[in-house]
Amino acid sequence: MPLKTSSLMDKNFSRPMPKTPLMPNKKILILTTGGTIAGSGDDHLKGSSYQAGALNGETLLSLLPSIQETLEVQEIAQIDSVEITPHIWKMLLESLHSKALEYDGFVITHGTDTMEESAFALDLLYKKDKPVVLVGAMRPSNALGSDGMKNLCNGIALASQSPYRGVMVLMNDKIYNPHTLYKAHTYNLDAFASRNGGEIGYVLDGCVKFFYHPLPSIPLPFEPQDLESLPKVEIVYLYAGIEELPQFSHKVDGLVIAGCGAGNIPSKIKSSLLQLQDDGIKILACTRGSQGFVTQSDFIPAYGLSVPKARILLALCLKHSFTQEAIQEIFSHF
Ligand code: SIN
Repeated sequence: MPLKTSSLMDKNFSRPMPKTPLMPNKKILILTTGGTIAGSGDDHLKGSSYQAGALNGETLLSLLPSIQETLEVQEIAQIDSVEITPHIWKMLLESLHSKALEYDGFVITHGTDTMEESAFALDLLYKKDKPVVLVGAMRPSNALGSDGMKNLCNGIALASQSPYRGVMVLMNDKIYNPHTLYKAHTYNLDAFASRNGGEIGYVLDGCVKFFYHPLPSIPLPFEPQDLESLPKVEIVYLYAGIEELPQFSHKVDGLVIAGCGAGNIPSKIKSSLLQLQDDGIKILACTRGSQGFVTQSDFIPAYGLSVPKARILLALCLKHSFTQEAIQEIFSHF
């Protein structure tokens, strides 16, 4: 469920950051999945060489400095985020939904590589009204200049103070909307960027400040159990000189085309895709670009969604056997 606003929202964007933390003594559940934030390496000076997900949830919690909030931890997985699956999203949602009455907010520790996909999938399927904040790190826990505990502390502050009751991402002090954020840098601490915009807020020394209202909520008919056995949606990345579509060894239910510019597709490829579309395969036109949107196409335009996010949404739409028109209508909200 996309972010919701509350009447507590400060509408005066020019007001300075609060000077002292609110210290609300809230009860926060930390759900751990692994990633670099739980990473550990042999050489403190080499922050790029380590094992992601080396520390379990309890060990991660023991690294935190003393803070006001009451913290509990639940380990969901201990993996590198390239191994994240829809099943793990379902496990996270089960915990978020079953424990919403017990906690004031949730923080999910997650590898940064696929954080944009997990944040988006959770956002589409989260049904409760407690803040959920994904945090990660670009340097492992024992590297010089590690950012993990700072991001985790900021995530806890955001989960306990946010007037928004949906899914957010906190990295490098910045608050991001799950619809728009993407990982833009492979190593730098300021690794995330936002499609067609910037961060929506900031956390400084435990004080939360929003600059923008998140996008209004879009009611969507999806449920966490949809994540079991999702239809097969593959990605085709176009390039100059491409001669033919790649062949897949399994049956494909949908294709997301990472097109050139505003979703443009070379004529040879387009005629193959039109044939597939006539055969009932749902085809989504997206862009290779990191900014902008696709609004016009012979296929379903992905509007402002990135390729990996459009793939998740198309798979959910196909799980419900929505028509071409219904899918087009859903994507037009993004
Ligand atoms: C991962 O995504 O699990 C490894 C990389 C990272 O967390 O930054």
